Amino acid sequence: MKIEGEEYRALWFDENIVNFIDQRELPYKFEIFKAKTVDDVAFAIRDMVVRGAPAIGAAAVYGMVLGEKEMEKTAEKLRKTRPTAYDLFYAIEYMIENINEGKDAFDAASTYVEDIINRCKKIGENGDKLIKNGMNILTHCNAGALATVDYGTALAPMRIAHKKGKKIFVYADETRPRCQGLLTSWELMQEGIAHSVIADNAAGYFMKKGEIDMVIVGADRIVKNGDFANKIGTYEKAVLAKENNIPFYVAAPISTFDNTIKNGNKIIIEERGRVELAKINKKKIMPDWMNVKNPAFDVTPKRFVTGYITEEGIIKK
Ligand code: MRU
Repeated sequence: MKIEGEEYRALWFDENIVNFIDQRELPYKFEIFKAKTVDDVAFAIRDMVVRGAPAIGAAAVYGMVLGEKEMEKTAEKLRKTRPTAYDLFYAIEYMIENINEGKDAFDAASTYVEDIINRCKKIGENGDKLIKNGMNILTHCNAGALATVDYGTALAPMRIAHKKGKKIFVYADETRPRCQGLLTSWELMQEGIAHSVIADNAAGYFMKKGEIDMVIVGADRIVKNGDFANKIGTYEKAVLAKENNIPFYVAAPISTFDNTIKNGNKIIIEERGRVELAKINKKKIMPDWMNVKNPAFDVTPKRFVTGYITEEGIIKK
């Protein structure tokens, strides 16, 4: 991704340090977080310095390089960071297989990261075919380059459509409590793609007015029957899209598809801390006595999905 004229990835490995664009600080400050140990990488995933399923997977492969000498211990530490994104577990297993086969850990990690970037690019090319000139597209959370190392999943088709000269407009859900919609807006601004951030509870309003032609979201885990977990609020957007006859697409690479789980009821949903609701941009917005509940994801049943945009093509029901 281009940031003020310079090419960046969401994370990269250099001289035994994993460098992350610190997503906790964006869009206000552009800072690099340096992880020198496995514990630092685990912290970066848990605290959401890095976030988004494919980017979490990439962080994990680099974490496995740092902790190669204690492979099982490292794998266990990383597995415990965030439970919902399947890419994390897929990436750790990939590294264990490669290390056990005697392959160089750094080479294996680099191959994984290049591969995920290429897969996202293909998702973009495949998804672009669905986008017509003049379309208004709604997305939820951030499934862009920040969430995937580069290109993105849900944002990749929009990037490619825009590069091809199609005129599009993006509605970016704010995505409380962590406001990943602001990351989406920041990425779209870098790309020069026209967009507006909308409050999460405004999506139905715009859909009913006929202002949304299509919804594209990412996924944290897509299970065998097609149900999928994604950022909290995705489910209600899918229901609203169906009610308003708007096509609803899920964009994800193979590393997000979990064939070990039969249906969405079995997906573990991460519960996160109170502070995410109680503060915005480090500023308190609730008194301390207020109790909150903060599930980070929800599950959308497959019947709400028009199709899955993958690197191998578009899978319709
Ligand atoms: O909690 P987050 O910010 O890691 O959640 C991210 C999402 O829900 C994304 O939509 C998903 O990981 C797909 S990213 C390409």
